[in-house]
Parts: sequence; C-alpha cells; structure tokens
Amino acid sequence: MALISYHPLPQLSTLSVKAPKACMNLTFNYSSSKGGETLKKPCSPRHEMGSNQVLVTNSMAPEKIEIFKSMESWAEDNILVYLKPVDKCWQPQDFLPEPTSDGFYDQIKELQERAKEVPDDYFVVLVGHMIAEEALPTYQTMLNTFDGVRDETGASPTSWATWTRAWTAEENRHGDLLNRYLYLSGRVDMRAIEKTIQYLIGSGMDPRTENNPYLGYVYTSFQERATFISHGNAARLAKQHGDLKLAQICGLIAADEKRHENAYSKIVQKLFEIEPDTTILAFSDMMRKKISMPAHLMYDGRDYNLFDHFAAVAARLGVYSARDYADVMEHLVNYWEVEKLTSLSPEGRKAQEFVCGLPQRFRIIAERSQGRAKQAPFMPFSWVYDREVRL
Ligand SMILES: [Fe+2]
Ligand SMILES: [Fe+2]
Repeated sequence: MALISYHPLPQLSTLSVKAPKACMNLTFNYSSSKGGETLKKPCSPRHEMGSNQVLVTNSMAPEKIEIFKSMESWAEDNILVYLKPVDKCWQPQDFLPEPTSDGFYDQIKELQERAKEVPDDYFVVLVGHMIAEEALPTYQTMLNTFDGVRDETGASPTSWATWTRAWTAEENRHGDLLNRYLYLSGRVDMRAIEKTIQYLIGSGMDPRTENNPYLGYVYTSFQERATFISHGNAARLAKQHGDLKLAQICGLIAADEKRHENAYSKIVQKLFEIEPDTTILAFSDMMRKKISMPAHLMYDGRDYNLFDHFAAVAARLGVYSARDYADVMEHLVNYWEVEKLTSLSPEGRKAQEFVCGLPQRFRIIAERSQGRAKQAPFMPFSWVYDREVRL
C-alpha cells in the first residue's frame, strides 16, 4: 500500500458533504496572486481534503484480487446482462434534426423555438450535465485504476473489462446528444462550454477510491443513482417548460443511468454477500470521505468555484440537492440491507452503525442549506454569455 501525503489544507467539518448547496461555504480557492492578476495552473485539480488526510493507493489487500477473479463468470451472467446490445440502443441522431432531410432547417427552427421558452437557469444545469458527461475519458480512466478488475490490455476479454468498455460506449452517447442539442439550441456559448470541457478533462477527478474496487463500486453505485436523479429531474423540468423533445432526451439518459446504477449496486450487493466485513468498511470509508461529484474540478478559465455555482443552481431548481444526496445514501443502505448484516467484526459493526445513522445526519445539513438558498445571489455564467442566473 502506498501512502502519499497531500499538502496541508483547511480541515472540513466532519459533518460536511461534497454535495450541492451544503458545501457552498466549504470550498477553497487555491489560486495564487501574482502581479495583481489571479493565476491558476491550468488543469491543476483542487484537492478538497483535510489537513491530516493522506491519499491512499492500492488499499485492497493483494489476496482479494482472487475474489474478483473468482467472480468473473458471476459477472458475465449477472452484470453484463445490464448492457444493451448496440442495435437495440438509441443513438443521438435519433433525436436530432437529420442533416440530409429536406426539413433540416425547419427542424432546427422548431428546436430553437422550443428552447426559447426554457429559462437560462435551466440551461446552466443542462450545460453542467453535458460537461460532466463529456468528461467521460476521466471516468474510464478511473475504472481502470481499480486493482483486479482493470482492463489490462485495452481490449481484455474479462467480464470486468468488457463491462467497463461497453459502459463507456453507452455513456458516450449522453455527452454527444446533449452537446449537439445545446449547440443547435442557439441559447448557450459553445466556446465557453468547450473550454470548460477541455479544462475538466485535463484536471481529471479525485474520487479517493484508492485503486480499490470495493470503494470504486460503492462510488459508481452512488454516482449512477445521483445522475439518474439529476437527469430525471431535468426531464421533468423540460416538460414543465413545454419542451417535450428535450424532456425525452433527458429521460432517455436517466433510464441509462438507472440501468447502470442497477449493475453497479448488484456488484456491491454480491460483495456484501461474499465479504460483508470488507464491504461495510468500504461503504463506510467512502461515506466518511464524501462522494465528490465527477465534475467537481470544473473550471471555465475564470470561475474557480464553477462547480459549486452550477450545483447551487441545480439544487435551487430541484434537480439535485443535498437532500437527494441523503436520499441516495438511504437508498443504498436499504438496498444493501446494511442494517441486517450479521457476523461482522467489532470494526465492521462500528462501520454499520455509522452508515445507518448517516442519512439522518445529512438530512439536517440539507435543511440548513435550504434555509441559506433563500438569500442566494445572482451570478454571471460564461456558458450563457455572462447572463446572470440566481444561485
Ligand atoms: Fe451518463
Ligand atoms: Fe452513468
């Protein structure tokens, strides 16, 4: 196990959570000032860690690699079935104007007419969703950091590697569809958005999963459910704004995320069955460290707290808030039947107790952050040509 120390940073409260709104007052600006100008190294991630925290790598005991090897055929029968055959999958072009058709320009006009009815704050959230989807290379990289399940060659035939590649291929359609829709909508500054994507992929992400698939699959279970909720709420709001086509787009993406959530949480469910102690410790560790959102290092070349600002808008619109974070946690505690786990070590029992009490603790944070939302200021977003949007 390798331990790498991070630079000392301010200590976060033990009750803090890297979730929208709740963390707004807990973000740090790591830019430096030189000659009166604020500088930030391009693509240098902000690490939001406490002063005594260390980055741990390869934290899974080497002998556990055998467990994942022995799960190969189980994964083939139980996880790969969650993938959809390519010819049964929707493709972005199914929901976009067809460039070879006579009605191409009319279809764009209709799309832009519908988009006119959609407010800027909704577009900020949709752009945030698109940017998070477009940083897909980072997520495939992350999955391939996990010991015992990584794609060793880039075309490895193991069930784990097959899943990772096919999952990536399914996810790739999300960013493509949202990107093309937003481009055609005529409502957003594509250049500012494209810059943000380039910065984000260059920054990567730091989910603190330690090359450890126990931690990693807890993280992905959480994240897929969180994105299912976000895209689902984006669909609901698009419908309210009268854009049924956009609602359909967001709904389709949400359905994919749900299917992915089912697969990842099935893996963790199986790990609970095989190795309850290791798995509850992993779940508790991930919850204690907080689930950082995949796009948490978002930057547009100007706003160092861009992710928090986007997340604040998403929370205010009811797309994803600290309350949803608590709901996801509670859902996973129930789905994995954490309360019913028996024959745990004393450490495992402590982790069980900690995890079971967490959703309630997070709800308290959610309520507090909701109170703060009432005095939220306006903020210009480069993504919508610096038009001001309420946080
Ligand atoms: Fe996605
Ligand atoms: Fe996903």
